[in-house]
Amino acid sequence: MQVVSGFSKKSKTEKLDYLSQFLDSPEKVKARLQSFWHQNLDEQKVFDDFSENTLTNYYFPYGIMPNLLLNNKTYFVPMVIEESSVVAAAANAASFWAKRGGVKSEVVASTKVGQVHFSWEGDKEKLFSFFKNNKAELKNNISPLLQSMKKRGGGLLDIDLKETGPNLFQLFCTFETCDAMGANFINTVLEALGRELVLSHAKLSEGEKTIEIIMAILSNYTPECLVRSYVECPIQDLEDGKLGMSVDQFVKKFNQALKISHMDIYRATTHNKGIFNGIDAVVLATGNDFRAIEACGHAFASRKGQYRGLSELTLKEGKFKFFLDVPLALGTVGGLTSLHPLAKTSLEILNNPSAKELMMIASAVGLLQNFAALKSLVTCGIQRGHMKMHLLNILNHLGATELEQEQVRDNFNDKVISFKEVRDFLMGLRTIH
Ligand code: MEV
Repeated sequence: MQVVSGFSKKSKTEKLDYLSQFLDSPEKVKARLQSFWHQNLDEQKVFDDFSENTLTNYYFPYGIMPNLLLNNKTYFVPMVIEESSVVAAAANAASFWAKRGGVKSEVVASTKVGQVHFSWEGDKEKLFSFFKNNKAELKNNISPLLQSMKKRGGGLLDIDLKETGPNLFQLFCTFETCDAMGANFINTVLEALGRELVLSHAKLSEGEKTIEIIMAILSNYTPECLVRSYVECPIQDLEDGKLGMSVDQFVKKFNQALKISHMDIYRATTHNKGIFNGIDAVVLATGNDFRAIEACGHAFASRKGQYRGLSELTLKEGKFKFFLDVPLALGTVGGLTSLHPLAKTSLEILNNPSAKELMMIASAVGLLQNFAALKSLVTCGIQRGHMKMHLLNILNHLGATELEQEQVRDNFNDKVISFKEVRDFLMGLRTIH
């Protein structure tokens, strides 16, 4: 294979020209990519600079979930997601629960973690005693890096020395980063701690083996950034005329669906995917890191040794209480949250929440999404709602006019929708006219 060098140094137009050599229809591809450039070149520059080798922008729908009643406050929640039924399902569940007291949420804690991994081939006891005697100085030597975070009420909370494996150790550090996601702050502090550790150990333990730093990096496993959200109502209040079965039958099946998600990994994965449909959409809309959130959520789902569904149900004294515990290390200042113009707008739409408030909003949407999915699954199935929303995609794909769209919708109002059926019906319409 021929390796291209210096690609990143080329201008955007040069990159497109270069790429053109390898395309069957370069002009078409180029025109399509350029058609997604922002009209305002200054705005476009912001997007170009987020990443390397940017050629254009990749659009996703930006929608709103109205009617989130959370801790007695109402929100319009921005959601960025391409899956057609997600916003509709969440919105449905939001208005259902808004009439039943809404969602209640609390942030249990917001501590983040970072690690300096190193190897040490000497006497373990000596290392632990060195750490005990020098921990305060270690902290002190990096204190200039902590000043501005300290002013905001955060900083480095503690450092612990742990043995990871044979000859492998780590400084296990805990941080509070207030409204920031804090990745850069944490990583900067960790790298400095690593350097200080080596220096002070070399100075104080002459003739000893040396500490060798392997890596210094934050951990995306943040079980302490835990948010707990729940909805609750008397069982009989779950009736909304759309269950197609008795409330008791519905609750029984809902409960069984949850139990299955706690026992079967195949179902648990899909169950949690539904929760993250909601969470990710809010995380993306607010410029947070959805990969970090997903990685942490799935690790947390395995914390008891088996991967399981994240939500729980209790049925006590005639009450249905559905809840979700999920760690969400989100930020509302710094990073993309302030650089991406639409992330900033999302936060404005949410009335500029603190990080903790955003954590509760995202978790509430995840819970509502999960409720909506389970409710459909154990009653009419998800395909009815899903395909109803997907119908528009099919119609757009088939180039249906507004009149055709209306005729197709009328025809499929009470029928099962599939691509083939819709296409055949549309072809039929087109031959008649
Ligand atoms: C689809 O994106 C998500 C669901 O499959 C979630 C679930 O099954 O719980 C509907």
